[in-house]
Amino acid sequence: MQLMIPKQTRALFLCLLILPCLPQPLPSPSPSPAPAPPSPPLSPFNERLEAAYVAFQAWKHAITEDPKNLTADWCGPLVCNYTGVYCAAAPDDPHTLTVAGVDLNHGDIAGCLPDHLGLLADLALLHLNSNRFHGTLPPSMHHMRLLFELDVSNNLLSGEFPSFLTSLPNLKFLDLRFNNFSGDLPSAVFGRGLSLDALFANDNKFKFSLSAASLTNSTASVIVLANTRLAGCIPASIGDMAETLVELILLNTSIASCIPPEIGRLRKLRVLDLSHNQLAGELPETIGDMESLEVLNVGYNELAGEVPEAICELPRLRNLTVAGNFFCDEPVSCLHVPLRDDRMNCIPDWPHQRSPEECIAFAHRPPAHCAADGCIAAHLSTP
Ligand SMILES: *[C@@H]1O[C@H](CO)[C@@H](O)[C@H](O)[C@H]1NC(C)=O
Ligand SMILES: *[C@@H]1O[C@H](CO)[C@@H](O)[C@H](O)[C@H]1NC(C)=O
Ligand SMILES: *[C@@H]1O[C@H](CO)[C@@H](O)[C@H](O)[C@H]1NC(C)=O
Ligand SMILES: *[C@@H]1O[C@H](CO)[C@@H](O)[C@H](O)[C@H]1NC(C)=O
Ligand SMILES: *[C@@H]1O[C@H](CO)[C@@H](O)[C@H](O)[C@H]1NC(C)=O
Ligand SMILES: *[C@@H]1O[C@H](CO)[C@@H](O)[C@H](O)[C@H]1NC(C)=O
Repeated sequence: MQLMIPKQTRALFLCLLILPCLPQPLPSPSPSPAPAPPSPPLSPFNERLEAAYVAFQAWKHAITEDPKNLTADWCGPLVCNYTGVYCAAAPDDPHTLTVAGVDLNHGDIAGCLPDHLGLLADLALLHLNSNRFHGTLPPSMHHMRLLFELDVSNNLLSGEFPSFLTSLPNLKFLDLRFNNFSGDLPSAVFGRGLSLDALFANDNKFKFSLSAASLTNSTASVIVLANTRLAGCIPASIGDMAETLVELILLNTSIASCIPPEIGRLRKLRVLDLSHNQLAGELPETIGDMESLEVLNVGYNELAGEVPEAICELPRLRNLTVAGNFFCDEPVSCLHVPLRDDRMNCIPDWPHQRSPEECIAFAHRPPAHCAADGCIAAHLSTP
């Protein structure tokens, strides 16, 4: 897809083209392997690379600090020679060289992402992790129809979830973690329209409500929402992700919910972390059906009852954390789980448990009732 560059802008940047570049040290080798060089060599001059040149010059101007001098060689029209820039034959035209990837991971670069970024319309990979980019992702990025991997983790990006992301047809890997994004995560993020393979949204200020309409339509194998704020309850439809889900991390998301038995349908799940929430009720026995489970962390919730024996008999379970709940019993088979943390519960005659006072006080609270929607049902007050 080609963008129209206004003539004036083009003239302006073509002027910059003839400005001399100061001598710069050689760029350090890039961490990512470059795509195989095209053969026979394609011309480094074409309209797409000209547009890319405009984009990179605008970007360079939007950079305020570049302590590793990664963009020092971003001069002149040969953009494919720039540090962190990878060119390849355009998928829609094998005779045309185009910019297919940008990798500035761990650059510590400060600045913002200008709207001209959208001129990189053939970009498949954009890796900007561990920099200091602030502001938002420019909406012009909706032109990146081939974008497959977007990693902007560990920056200072803010604002709402960039809505254009949900319309990128090829996006598979989306990593927004460790930024300052806020507001809702649109349910389209989990929709089959987007069909992500991995979503990392953790450690942002996102707030969103769990429901059958969100989350559970996801096709992702990895979903990490830790340290965000989730409302609502874990819906029974969580089991609908059975074909794809391998890792689910909902650590510290302030969910107050029961754990629906349908979670046991997630037979491919290897890592489940629901710790540091307000989960109540009992651990469903069906977790014992999750035959791929290797790591289970339900620590620091308000779970009660017994740890089901079937869970401790899971063949691959190697790390089980039930600490910080109110469990009153744990079967001996749990002693065979290589890494086990059951401290701070109410297991009689067991080391490192809560005080008898705490356990008695909890036992006198009315037990949590789980409603059909997965929520903790309000207690009926008895006169
Ligand atoms: C970057 O360039 C500046 C000015 O040319 C130089 O002083 C500095 O040492 C360079 N830094 C690195 C990490 O190469
Ligand atoms: C720049 O790229 C061209 C091909 O596009 C290549 O022939 C040339 O050696 C490169 N120059 C430098 C300094 O890397
Ligand atoms: C993150 O956003 C909040 C407002 O939502 C703001 O007060 C805070 O300074 C921002 N932090 C960073 C590191 O940008
Ligand atoms: C999720 O799937 C259900 C049932 O297939 C559908 O009705 C709903 O619109 C989907 N939601 C999204 C956000 O795709
Ligand atoms: C939970 O997340 C909040 C921010 O959302 C953070 O301040 C707090 O330290 C986190 N707690 C744990 C146990 O990670
Ligand atoms: C075991 O799980 C706990 C809690 O999730 C985690 O902190 C710890 O790092 C894990 N240990 C290993 C060796 O994976």
